Amino acid sequence: MAQPHTRRTDCRICGSTRLSSVIDLGLQPPANAFLDASSPPVPEQRHPLELFICLSCNHAQLLDVVPKEDLFSHYLYFSTTSRTIPAHFAGLAKEVQERHCAPGDLVVEIGSNDGVLLSSFQGTGVRVLGVEPATNVATAARARGVETMNAFFDETAAREIVDRYGHAKVILANNVVGHIDDLQTFIRLVAGTLSPLGTFIFEVPYLVDLLEKTEFDTIYHEHVSYFALRPVEKMLSIGGLRITDVRHFDVHGGTIRVYAKPAAEAKHVSPAVAEMIQNEVRVGLNTMAPYEAFGRRVQELRRELLAMLAFARAKNLRVAGYGAPAKGNTLLNFCGIGPDILEYIQDSTPVKQGLLTPGMRIPVVEPATFREKPPDIALLLAWNFEREILAKEQKFREAGGKFLVPIPFPRYV
Ligand code: TMP
Repeated sequence: MAQPHTRRTDCRICGSTRLSSVIDLGLQPPANAFLDASSPPVPEQRHPLELFICLSCNHAQLLDVVPKEDLFSHYLYFSTTSRTIPAHFAGLAKEVQERHCAPGDLVVEIGSNDGVLLSSFQGTGVRVLGVEPATNVATAARARGVETMNAFFDETAAREIVDRYGHAKVILANNVVGHIDDLQTFIRLVAGTLSPLGTFIFEVPYLVDLLEKTEFDTIYHEHVSYFALRPVEKMLSIGGLRITDVRHFDVHGGTIRVYAKPAAEAKHVSPAVAEMIQNEVRVGLNTMAPYEAFGRRVQELRRELLAMLAFARAKNLRVAGYGAPAKGNTLLNFCGIGPDILEYIQDSTPVKQGLLTPGMRIPVVEPATFREKPPDIALLLAWNFEREILAKEQKFREAGGKFLVPIPFPRYV
């Protein structure tokens, strides 16, 4: 049973109550709350989706929080549904093995999903433990042979890890730190689980990319934080951790991988850290200008996309969605794109097929439908896999099919 949201009044990093609205995306259902097409339509629980910026530490965040049990206990996102993400994580696993741990050490991954990252450690002698609250994905990880605690990383889980397995040489957390409402407790627990010589390595989508590439659709209730490096520095200091390095990747529309160690061990800090922070000041993240410009571009994007789709429908062209990622639902709900415009959405994730998208209630179908009843235009909701998908759908394109890519601005390819 869906529960109401709560609203916080202070910044989840620095506690300031000086918070300013960046963009209001309206009342939306949780982006992964796909509906069973066979059950009678009941009104969906909707929650405010509004991005705020802290005027003290410049942390971008949602204040309205949907209970985590509603969002993460049964999860529809599987890391292995693309080729891009497993390849990206294989690179991370290799680096961790070569530089951050040795046989016998413990590597803990928070939000370990289907275990794709930790499975790369099999046969290396490194001990691994996944922590994953969604029972369905934790089961998939265990089937892969990855030891997984089916739990949220909370005080009980952290204590159990230290008691049963010892302190971790490496703690990994990819695309999960942005999910955590109580960041201060989370960072203290990470610091308490890490060995004094250990490294905390995590990836989060990067706020500068979100703003510059108008990736407003990556805003949804699961993501309560949108990180720049300066607020990350402040957040880590709560647990006595210090950033030692940072790298930028193109995955998920622009991601940073942050490396942190207990301050006493953070002797060598890469120049990349100061460079990234200087750039954040250069682009004005400590002023309202980039947030206001972003808000204006989102409104323009919506107008432009709706005009392009209306034009296509007026010419009787058939339009379908390609990929049903969570972020697609922010875009569809915010723009009001429903089944009158999109005939269906094809998605390769078996658990999404046969369901309706939350809010707009567009049927999600398997890729075979796309091959058998190809539309004239495919709205690429999974735009972060543009290269992979365009390469895969050569036939559709050769037959005259067009992809409409909505982000960073709507365009046909
Ligand atoms: P994500 O952007 O949250 O990773 O989700 C991408 C979605 O797109 C996911 O539901 C799987 C889907 N998808 C396809 O349907 N076909 C593909 O070729 C790829 C790469 C993803």
